[in-house]
Amino acid sequence: MEARLAVLASGTGTNLQALMDDPVVGSHIALVASDRPDAMALERGRGRGIETATLERKDFPDRAAHDRAFRELLGSKGIDCVALAGYMRIVGPELIRAFPERIVNLHPALLPAFPGMRSVADALEWGVKVTGVTVHLVDEEVDHGPIVAQEALDVRPDDDLDSLLARVHEVEHRIFPAAVRALVQGRLEVKGRVVHVLSEEDRA
Ligand code: GRF
Repeated sequence: MEARLAVLASGTGTNLQALMDDPVVGSHIALVASDRPDAMALERGRGRGIETATLERKDFPDRAAHDRAFRELLGSKGIDCVALAGYMRIVGPELIRAFPERIVNLHPALLPAFPGMRSVADALEWGVKVTGVTVHLVDEEVDHGPIVAQEALDVRPDDDLDSLLARVHEVEHRIFPAAVRALVQGRLEVKGRVVHVLSEEDRA
């Protein structure tokens, strides 16, 4: 049976768009969920006829309860795996334990460098010559889990935040769908911190 994927997003959702546009991943997306009712990502999902849901943090007494509500939502929709595509909240242990090694996150830097919410600005301010994008499995430490994919890009002397962000997005829109494709096709083999991405032929 086809794996059912939920995409969680808080913002504009250009990465959700890239997932929906991927010929393999697109058909696996069963739910787009957000913590923000105004997230453009929800619009994009609805535009494709994908079911959407919003669970706002303010409607729950604490983070654990919010997390549990997400777990129950995903459980009720028969979700098998999850892609965090610009989901701006820390995913708690209850949700992570419900989907062991089946949640991937997209991070706009070469982890373990520049974790956190403002990594592109941090990298630019640090003066690094190379930065990049990481897709990793989510574990119980923030921006920490085993790495599925990374791609580097040069920081140019005349880069500002906008120009660097634009190139980071280009890379994201390419490597995130490829990594999520491997996730939904069951091609990720995790050995400790090391993830082997099996090829489609290996898996067949
Ligand atoms: C991406 O840069 C991703 O790396 C970060 O949040 C951003 C989301 O962008 N976690 P978008 O909403 O997909 O355009």
